[in-house]
Amino acid sequence: MAKLTADALREMYLKFFESKGHTIISGASVIPENDPTVLFTTAGMHPLVPYLLGEPHPAGRRLTDVQKCVRTGDIDAVGDSAHLTFFEMLGNWSLGDYFKKEAIAWSFEFLTTKLGLKPEDLYVTVFKGEEGIPRDDEAIACWKAQGIPESHIFPKGREDNWWGPAGVTGPCGPDTEMFLDTGKPACSPDCGPGCHCGKYMEIWNDVFMQYNKTAEGTYEPLKQHNVDTGMGVERTICMINGYTDVYESELFLPLLERIRALTTNELPEEKRIRAERIIADHMRTATIILGDPKGGVKPGNVGANYVLRRLIRRAVRYGMDLGLPAGFTAEMADLVIGVYKGFYPDLLEKRESIVAELTAEENRFAKTLTQGRHEFEKVADVMAQHGQTQISGKTAFKLYDTYGFPLEITQELAAERGMTVDVDGFAKAEAKHKEASKQGEGVFKGGLADHSEQTTRLHTATHLLHKALKIVLGDHVNQKGSNITAERLRFDFSHPEKMTKEQLEQVEDLVNEQIKRALPITCETMAIEDAKASGATALFTAKYGEQVKVYKMGDFSKEVCGGPHANNTSELVAFKILKEESSSAGVRRIKAIIGEPALEKRKAIGK
Ligand code: ALA
Repeated sequence: MAKLTADALREMYLKFFESKGHTIISGASVIPENDPTVLFTTAGMHPLVPYLLGEPHPAGRRLTDVQKCVRTGDIDAVGDSAHLTFFEMLGNWSLGDYFKKEAIAWSFEFLTTKLGLKPEDLYVTVFKGEEGIPRDDEAIACWKAQGIPESHIFPKGREDNWWGPAGVTGPCGPDTEMFLDTGKPACSPDCGPGCHCGKYMEIWNDVFMQYNKTAEGTYEPLKQHNVDTGMGVERTICMINGYTDVYESELFLPLLERIRALTTNELPEEKRIRAERIIADHMRTATIILGDPKGGVKPGNVGANYVLRRLIRRAVRYGMDLGLPAGFTAEMADLVIGVYKGFYPDLLEKRESIVAELTAEENRFAKTLTQGRHEFEKVADVMAQHGQTQISGKTAFKLYDTYGFPLEITQELAAERGMTVDVDGFAKAEAKHKEASKQGEGVFKGGLADHSEQTTRLHTATHLLHKALKIVLGDHVNQKGSNITAERLRFDFSHPEKMTKEQLEQVEDLVNEQIKRALPITCETMAIEDAKASGATALFTAKYGEQVKVYKMGDFSKEVCGGPHANNTSELVAFKILKEESSSAGVRRIKAIIGEPALEKRKAIGK
């Protein structure tokens, strides 16, 4: 069978919904018009928020479009087979017109008659109900009416089957997601739609928007019942064509082929593939942002401008790893424009300015790196004269802070001269710098009475504990209180029942695993909206000012918090829970210790 291209898929989708009475509208700018709570358009419904809230849309009550979306919350995950910072979302909307019955019937019809999927390979999830919002029996009945058997219908909770709002406030509601069974073996007896092992691929999401989330965090019923759906173009063509990853499609191949042809440094395969994907992904997103008809986003130091700068610089850095020639970003932009110019003619019109911006940013970054290299050589020469072989953390940090020199580059240059870098010293210098600048800004309002090293580490342990509890018990776990003395931490959290011995053991082991992994702890200051958009856990929001700090412990936890924290989880040595008890109705309390005493206690039980 001929391959399904993105062009063909867009056309087929829009025409199908046109035949069901929908007006085809243009997708909006990727830079949001009226929403200060997000930096980029993240979903098809986003530009339609006023109409979902009741404002009449000039094109009527049934709409369909293709929306350019940018999501950079997972930027560090790009390079695997699925995460992208830019994607296109196909969508159809009912603005107070049809509801679940029609939405589900048309989804089923499109999947089976247009995409040619077999009904028996389809699985769906629906909202199972909670907190005064009932199970979505209507959606279940609609799927059954299409012939989907009960064994293929999975009721799930809020994390899986509730969508929105796109920013902090706005329309949201229960949803039903459609999955294709790829035929791969199940990863475990619990494997099902929603599992990320690759057996079930999510194709489409139908959201039934019945609520508006207010700034106070409450849900009020919407004036009208809406349908909002979203199908990812990249993922769908990957799945329909049986590709193993999204990069195999015609949207990426020209970029990857060119990157490979230009590569002069041989890297180990895994590193090479990751670098190629990061470059292709980031250059695609940067080109789309720079080519957006609304315009106005240039590489810079804040907000959307900073995201764009980060995308370009990351691509350039990985380009250097592969030994791509200077000026490669312009070539990449031309390839992206070539792929998309049919559907987004603005890209071609803006070609010159896109290329100029990319080249300027590539040059600025290269200059920064060259200056840093000079500085490095100067330091290394002096060191060599004195017979020293370890670059101090302070010097490595200066290279990073002043010249934008990533630590890995300093390490590589050092290695070329038979030298090493004091990595711990680097982390310390970085932490010291951050503390100093934060104190200068007066951002130290997190509420830790005592900043001794021990209490700081215990505080770090509470973040690891919080995340481990969410993993083991579920996302309903939220911090309800914390109290730290020099000896122990005390952590209160929402959970309806006593934890079992096994759960306690799992939580404790999970925290110790993170300590063993020696995760670096990093901190970024950003606007609360950006922090939330990045997926950080945010607590006691009202206490924070506009700018907040987000502490990340490797890939394990990300939390809005006043700090301070340890520099690396290994400083905690070990973690031992002493007690789990009730604190008040629906709130549990854990007391725990860290350090050598914790290690001893764990050894005593054979850990
Ligand atoms: N707005 C829904 C989503 O992004 C359709 O999945």
